[in-house]
Amino acid sequence: MSKISIVHECSNCGAQFSKWQGRCNECGSWGTVSQESINLETKKDTLVSPDKPINFNDIGLQEKERIKIGLGEVDRVLGGGLVAGSLVLLGGDPGIGKSTLALQIAQGVGDTLYISGEESAHQIKMRANRLKSNLSGLKFIPQTSLEKIIATILDQKPKLAIIDSIQTINSSDSATGIGSAAQITACTSKLMELSKKSGIPIIIIGHVTKEGFVAGPKTLEHLVDTVLYLESDNRDFYKILRGVKNRFGSTGEIGVFEMTEVGLKEVINPTNIFVESHSSPASGTAISIIMEGTRAFLVEIQALASKTSFGYPQRKSTGFDLNRLQMIIAVISKMAKINLANHDIYLNIAGGLKIKETATDLAVCLAIVSAYLEKSISQNLLILGEVGLSGEIRAVSQIDRRIKEASKLKFNRIITAKNQAIRNVEDLEIIQVSNISEAIRTIS
Ligand code: TYD
Ligand code: MG
Repeated sequence: MSKISIVHECSNCGAQFSKWQGRCNECGSWGTVSQESINLETKKDTLVSPDKPINFNDIGLQEKERIKIGLGEVDRVLGGGLVAGSLVLLGGDPGIGKSTLALQIAQGVGDTLYISGEESAHQIKMRANRLKSNLSGLKFIPQTSLEKIIATILDQKPKLAIIDSIQTINSSDSATGIGSAAQITACTSKLMELSKKSGIPIIIIGHVTKEGFVAGPKTLEHLVDTVLYLESDNRDFYKILRGVKNRFGSTGEIGVFEMTEVGLKEVINPTNIFVESHSSPASGTAISIIMEGTRAFLVEIQALASKTSFGYPQRKSTGFDLNRLQMIIAVISKMAKINLANHDIYLNIAGGLKIKETATDLAVCLAIVSAYLEKSISQNLLILGEVGLSGEIRAVSQIDRRIKEASKLKFNRIITAKNQAIRNVEDLEIIQVSNISEAIRTIS
């Protein structure tokens, strides 16, 4: 006898309930919950032939063909170009420059089919004119039906297809509304199948919603091969393209652009932009180097210490983890005997980078102490080291790459951990310290 279970499922988000209800508790849609029956019986007696596993040694390596876009920053973030048959998600806030970047990519590749569900041919042409694009090879369709889009891509066989945006596309197979999580997921899976079958790379553009996701909780990110996010730095000067997921390369790479009159311009040597130029050294600023993927960036850490006027002391931070800042302040107070309990501390990473690694701990620590003592740190001093809870300074990774970046600029002294293995570099004085008190002595 077959066992049938009745469940009530929401067609929008897939949530299941034991009873019918007018509104889905999960996604809040009305009238989407309907009755479904599930056959619970497992087919015990059906004979299934087993698969024959392949030996790992016998699996051949197939280097996928890559299409160079010609925009160096994008090519690097992608891991050396667009892989044939890959599905790439380009996400970002509305108005950040996704369509502009997509058009520049199209121009770089040539022979591209640009599908827009948001803008008319006229609007795209106006943007292309603004970019002074060479439009030969670029084709356009305004379309929102997924079936039509797939048919056109298969018919035209372009070198690259761009869909702007996935939120505006709908498939007749999915009954839910345009832009719903279920609709977007269904369309993306079909596009994945298309890119794999045809070998045509497809870039889909997705808006980040106010909750901070492209179409529901990370569903799209799981489906696609590569996820790129275009973000703004916190002063809105630069656009940063970040590789978040990449099945064909490393993540953590960033590309830096500037939005100009004629579209996005690559910032080839971004290190200088993350350090403000001061005519004389200011107290509370310290310079360190962070790694973003394979690239090293010089960063300026700015701290301000001011007497607390009432209540608890404030701790505020931009671009640096607040919990880590609080830990560093506690270590300074306890281990270096500098009492910061009556001081508000503000920390800012100049240039809008977000620091995710611990290699800048010591620079943060010295910036705070410098602000507190009102003693400036020499501009030619580079600070690298992780701070531990007992005030010890630990070595950082990829020191050679960091120093190579620093040697392009005028640094003649570096402070690092005592146990940091470091090669001697010409014209660079290396000061190795084992705890924060020793480090503070070098600047005070
Ligand atoms: P857009 O690419 O349309 O953003 P998205 O597709 O992410 O919504 O453009 C974003 C902004 O960039 C828009 O406000 C106008 C500006 N812009 C320039 O400053 N210069 C240019 O050359 C172009 C094309 C746009
Ligand atoms: Mg757009």
